[in-house]
Amino acid sequence: MFRTAFSKSRGAAWALGATAGSAVTGWIWTSQQETPAFCSNDNSSVLGMLQQVSQRLEHLEHLVGGKSIASQRSSTKDSPRIDIVLGAQWGDEGKGKLVDMLSSGGYDVCARVAGGSNAGHTIVVEGKKYKFHLLPSGVLNPNAVCVIGNGVVVHIPSFLNELDSLTAAGVDWKGRVLLSDRAHLVFDLHQEVDGMSDAGLGRHKLGTTKKGIGPAYASKINRTGLRVGDLQDDSWDNFERRFRNLVESHKQAFPSLEVDIDEQLAYYKAVAPRVQEMMVDTIQYTNQQYDQGKRILVEGANATMLDIDFGTYPFVTSSNPSVGSVLTGLGVSPRKLGGIYGTVKAYCTRVGEGPFPTELPVEKNSPGFHLGHVGAEYGTTTGRPRRVGWLDIPQMKYSATLNGFTSLNLTKVDVLTGLETVKLGVSYKYKGKYLDSMPANLKVLEDVEVEFEELPGWKEDISSCRTFEELPMNCQTYILRVQELIGVPIRWIGVGPNRADVIDRGVGWDLSESPSQS
Ligand code: GDP
Ligand code: IMO
Ligand code: MG
Repeated sequence: MFRTAFSKSRGAAWALGATAGSAVTGWIWTSQQETPAFCSNDNSSVLGMLQQVSQRLEHLEHLVGGKSIASQRSSTKDSPRIDIVLGAQWGDEGKGKLVDMLSSGGYDVCARVAGGSNAGHTIVVEGKKYKFHLLPSGVLNPNAVCVIGNGVVVHIPSFLNELDSLTAAGVDWKGRVLLSDRAHLVFDLHQEVDGMSDAGLGRHKLGTTKKGIGPAYASKINRTGLRVGDLQDDSWDNFERRFRNLVESHKQAFPSLEVDIDEQLAYYKAVAPRVQEMMVDTIQYTNQQYDQGKRILVEGANATMLDIDFGTYPFVTSSNPSVGSVLTGLGVSPRKLGGIYGTVKAYCTRVGEGPFPTELPVEKNSPGFHLGHVGAEYGTTTGRPRRVGWLDIPQMKYSATLNGFTSLNLTKVDVLTGLETVKLGVSYKYKGKYLDSMPANLKVLEDVEVEFEELPGWKEDISSCRTFEELPMNCQTYILRVQELIGVPIRWIGVGPNRADVIDRGVGWDLSESPSQS
C-alpha cells in the first residue's frame, strides 16, 4: 500500500516511504499549504520540479473525480480560516458531536448559519447528554463565542429556554452567545400554521418538525417577517405594526388561526432586554474575528438532501443547509472558507416523509431493525423513529459534488457491528438504464432500482478503537471501500456516541488507499 509520512513544519513538509524505484516519493497534504509539496530524488531543476507538481496534481484531481483537490486546507493557528461541518444526507448524521469535539480543540467562534429549532444535535460528554436546537454545539467549549447568524430563524421562547437549561446544567454561556440582528423571528403563529399546513396535506404530508420553519422563511421571502433587530426599544412601534400585519395576513390564509396579539406583544416587550443583550451585527463581528486571526467553525444544521434547492423537494426543509448557507447565513466571503467536513452516517436515516431509495424494512431481526435499534434512531427534536437504510453512494457523490467536501466524518460505524454482511447502494437504475445524476423528479427517484454491493460484516466491539489499524479487517475494508466510492478522504470515524469515541486519521494520508491494496 502507498503510504506517506509527514512533517508538520510549515512549508517544508516531506513525504517519505515510496513505491520502490519511483522518482517522486509521495504526496503530502498539509494543513498549512494549498499546494501539495513533493520530494524528488532529482530536484536540481526547478522546471523538473514544476512538471512533477503538475503531474501529481493531475493524478490527485483524477482520484477525487476530476475536481480540484481543495487540499487539506482546514484552519490552523497560523493560518486561520472558516471551517464548516455539514450534514451530507438527510440529517442526524452526528454533526453536533464533531462540532463539539473540534471546538474543544481550539476554535474561537462557533456559528450556526441556517435552519432553526428543527435541528436537534445531541452531544455526550462523559456520559452526560446535551441536546441543542438553536445553539451551536460549540457552546460547551468555554472559550468559544457562539454566533447565531443572519440566516437562522429564531423562535425566541425556545432560544431562551435552551439558554436556561444550559444554565441549569451548569454551563456558563453569559457573554458568549451572540444573536444576529438580521436573523428572522419565528413566532408561535408560524408554528401553528406549520402544523395546520402539514395536516392539510393529508396523506401527502411532509412530516415537518412543526417548529414553524417553512412559514417563518415564507414570511422572510414575502418581506412580511420581523427580525431580531426589530426588538429594539426605538423601533417598538414598527415591531407592533408589522406584527399585527403578519397576524392579519396569516388569519386570512388560515381563518381558524387564533392569536392573542396583546399577549404576544407583551411577551416580546418583556423579553426584548434579554434579547438586546445578545444582539449584534454578527456580519461585522465574524469578519472582524477573522481579520484578527481567530479560528471560526460553522455548525451546519439539517442536511444537504433536505436543501430547498438540492434536496428531495418538496420533502425538504425551507433553507439551504448545504455549503452556500455559510456565505448567505453568516455574511462571509467564499475566499475565507477552509475545511468543508461532510458528516455521513455509515448507513442512512431519514425522519419525515419523502423518497428513500436504499430504505430497509424494519421487521424484527432484519438488518433494518438492527440499524434502528442499535443506532437508537429516534429524532432528537420530535422523538419520531427515523427510517433506516443502507449507505447511498450516488447520494453521497451528489452531496460531495455540491459541497466540495475536503474530508468526511463517517459516524456510527459501531452500529454496523454484529451484522453478517453490510451493503452499499452503489448505483441507481431507472427503466433498465444507469443514472449518472440525482434525478430531480421524485417519481423517478421513488422508482429507481438500487444496485448493492455486499461486504462481509464484523462481530468485534470497536467502541474502544482509537486508531484505524485497531479496527477489524472487515471494518477497515468497508471504510476504505466507502472512501474509494465517494472519492473523498474519510478523516474521522465514529465508534460511539461519546466525545472521545472517534478515530482521527489526521490530515495527510493517501486517498489512493483501497481495499484491494490493503
Ligand atoms: P446531528 O443532528 O447531525 O447533530 O445528529 P443527532 O445528534 O441528531 O443524531 C446523531 C446521534 O448519534 C446522537 O444521538 C449522537 O449522540 C449519536 N452519535 C454520533 N456519533 C456516533 C457514533 O459514532 N456512534 C454512535 N453509536 N452514536 C453516535
Ligand atoms: P439536524 O440538524 C433530520 C426534516 C423534517 C422533515 C423536513 C421538513 O438535527 O440534522 P422542517 O421542520 O424543517 O420544515 O421539516 O426536514 N428535518 C430534519 N431531519 N434532522 C434535521 O436536522 C432536520 N431538520 C429538518 O423531519 O422531514
Ligand atoms: Mg439531529
